[in-house]
Amino acid sequence: MTKTLIRGRLLAFLAEPHAVDDHASYVYEEDGAVLVEDRVIVASGAYARVALDAGGTEVVDHRPHLLLPGFIDAHAHFPQMQVIASFGAELLDWLNTYTFPAETKFSDPAHAARIAGCFLDEMARHGTTTAAVYCTVHPGSADAFFAEAQRRGMCMIAGKVMMDRNAPAALTDTAQSSYDDTKALIARWHGKGRLNYAITPRFAITSTPGQMEMAAALAAEHPDLHIQTHLSENHAEIAFSGELYPHCGDYTGIYVDYGLTGPKSLFGHCIHLSEREADVLAESGSVAVFCPTSNLFLGSGLFDYQRYRRRTRPLRIAAATDVGGGTNYSMLRTMDEGYKVIALNGEKLNPLASFWQITRGNAEALSLESRIGTLEAGSDADLVVLDARATPAMRLRMETVETLAEELFVLQTLGDDRAVVETYVAGSPMKQGL
Ligand code: GUN
Ligand code: ZN
Repeated sequence: MTKTLIRGRLLAFLAEPHAVDDHASYVYEEDGAVLVEDRVIVASGAYARVALDAGGTEVVDHRPHLLLPGFIDAHAHFPQMQVIASFGAELLDWLNTYTFPAETKFSDPAHAARIAGCFLDEMARHGTTTAAVYCTVHPGSADAFFAEAQRRGMCMIAGKVMMDRNAPAALTDTAQSSYDDTKALIARWHGKGRLNYAITPRFAITSTPGQMEMAAALAAEHPDLHIQTHLSENHAEIAFSGELYPHCGDYTGIYVDYGLTGPKSLFGHCIHLSEREADVLAESGSVAVFCPTSNLFLGSGLFDYQRYRRRTRPLRIAAATDVGGGTNYSMLRTMDEGYKVIALNGEKLNPLASFWQITRGNAEALSLESRIGTLEAGSDADLVVLDARATPAMRLRMETVETLAEELFVLQTLGDDRAVVETYVAGSPMKQGL
């Protein structure tokens, strides 16, 4: 069995940090190390101690760079790589004008395989080791995505979108075929290696009540599976959903009525929720996924992160790129824009909380904290190595930095893929070879 000792300035979170001086919320070792054996972390902590267990193991020394759990992206669309940077539309027009035409190309398995490979390489280049991903309506797009993720040993959550109306004919399934195809994909991929299937009705607008019933049946038959969909992103979308489901009270009520809320349910956006809707999501343990670059790019609105966290019944929150409504693959860029969205709501997000969110926080939101998002022994060895002096501007700014929190804020504000020195997936370096 191969062992590797990865040395660096170790940082991992234990709990959500409530302030920049919340030192109990994280573990930091100036000279730290992670010992990896057979794809899993077997020890981590001070180098001097961990090295004792390592014997004559090969050492990869990343000092003076930071070593954290790999980043986690809780919502992205791999078929939208060529949709990023499409000009001039809000959500529904953007879907019809750019996104649906791009997604029709995924009927071709060769195209699906090529883009899935590009997407996962881009994730690794940006330090992201796990993502919750939407495929297209074509079952082959999910086969391609899972096959490429399996080849790289990556922990991924994904599903074929179910959509049987309000989309081009080439992109619609039927209630029955979406059920059958999803069942077959679950059997083929869920639980294989590090792969997780997510039941993925795209959103209420593109599913008939008949298809929502099928999604409900799938959820009831597979209560351990994730469910991912979109909710309350844009005013026109909310109004149209209300017209399509007039008996459900509000947008969240649609998903409640079809049994799609719960602790494994990931709701992209959740920008314009009423208090009632936020209560329902919180009580069911559902997750609201914050996608700042997308929300700004599409002009969808400002997710009120701190209001949701501070409620009597706090919402579970994840953070995500939402490529390709989102404009960047980087979770550093995502949290930089997230900081600005939160600032526009008159609040702040401290840098420790930001890095908690994209590591352990997202792992908890995806119910995967027993495997990822930490550096504890027994976790999968998914790691990111970060250089806060990666560019001339960062180097200059770092001359005046004195604390870890300040360094993290420089990484978030000025950093991108250039600050990611290496990304380890299950103990294997994935970036330098790309
Ligand atoms: N709502 C339904 N589908 C999508 C999508 O692909 N992107 C975004 N941002 N919102 C959606
Ligand atoms: Zn989305």
